[in-house]
Amino acid sequence: MQHRYEESLGRIAEKFRRTAEAARKEGIIPYKSEGGKWITSPYDGNSWWTGGFWPGLMWQLWTLTGDEFFREEARRVGSLLAAEFRSFRFLNHDVGFMYLLSAGADAKLTGSEQAETDVLHAASLLMGRFNPAGFIRAWNAPEQVGIAIIDCMMNLSLLYRASRDTGDPRFRETARIHADTTLREFLREDGSVSHIIELDPVSGKRVKEHPGQGYTLGSQWSRGQAWGLYGFTLAYENLGDRRYLEAALRIAGNFRKHIREDGLTDCDFCQPAGEERIDNIAGAVAACGMQELAKASGDPSWKAAAEKLTLGLLDHCADWGNDRCGILTKCTASYHDDGAGRHTNITYGDYFLTESLMKLCGKDPDLWN
Ligand code: GLY
Repeated sequence: MQHRYEESLGRIAEKFRRTAEAARKEGIIPYKSEGGKWITSPYDGNSWWTGGFWPGLMWQLWTLTGDEFFREEARRVGSLLAAEFRSFRFLNHDVGFMYLLSAGADAKLTGSEQAETDVLHAASLLMGRFNPAGFIRAWNAPEQVGIAIIDCMMNLSLLYRASRDTGDPRFRETARIHADTTLREFLREDGSVSHIIELDPVSGKRVKEHPGQGYTLGSQWSRGQAWGLYGFTLAYENLGDRRYLEAALRIAGNFRKHIREDGLTDCDFCQPAGEERIDNIAGAVAACGMQELAKASGDPSWKAAAEKLTLGLLDHCADWGNDRCGILTKCTASYHDDGAGRHTNITYGDYFLTESLMKLCGKDPDLWN
């Protein structure tokens, strides 16, 4: 199988070497590919939360191939993202996704001082969203003052990193408080996690669960499950608290039960039977999280599950032709918002497919740590 993974990585590098040229010429941050063209994100311009995945992908391919084109393309988009610090008002807790994979990767892989400054800037913005009632505020609208979401478990990596780089424990300890609140409020009896919880912004007490990007209130949005799985694994690796490892194992156990025969992942594990709504991004994120979990827990069965997911994507949903600029098909941004993309190619699907293959080949630059 190793040969298949190596060969797939080679094909990914070859396809993006070709199609990234178009993104560079247009000066955009690609969000998804349609009709053979790159398209930008549907919301909030270059501040949309997904902007880091393109440079993250370029950095992965630069470490794989050493081709300078990929580094230049990563830095081109890294500069566009750094310009968003100045406009500021659309930025939210997803500065982790945005800047870890752009400036964070640059600083880690090249030692760039400006990139390191940008990482610390982003970490300070994330710290600025901390509510002493015990959580990091997700979004910006006045009615969202008490909203926390499961996705934020991935953004905490920015805080672990800032504590390591500065020697200042505040970042890490803030992450710990948020992770504890997430453990208490999001993890359910059956090992699934909620997407959105509203907390009282003064007392920190639970107000209620909100429906999110999944099928309905109380259902299991698969990408949210994957963020929780990977995020709690990273929390364990960085904070050393075994409760986080146990949480990751429970979430992963529930996820594994729902992997389809063909290795693909439904958009929501509670969606109506017979509904064909797949989100391959969820499967790709979970494949990465499960490989990390195999290392953290010492249980190789998680790597086997990650391989089933990755092979499902390669066997059924990898488009190597010219219809799309990207590769992974059947990505779905949100159960009820087809405008952001349904059953199409979206760049963070390609990012996590590549990360999973890099991990399987022992070449992952470990951008979340
Ligand atoms: N809000 C993050 C996601 O769509 O996964």
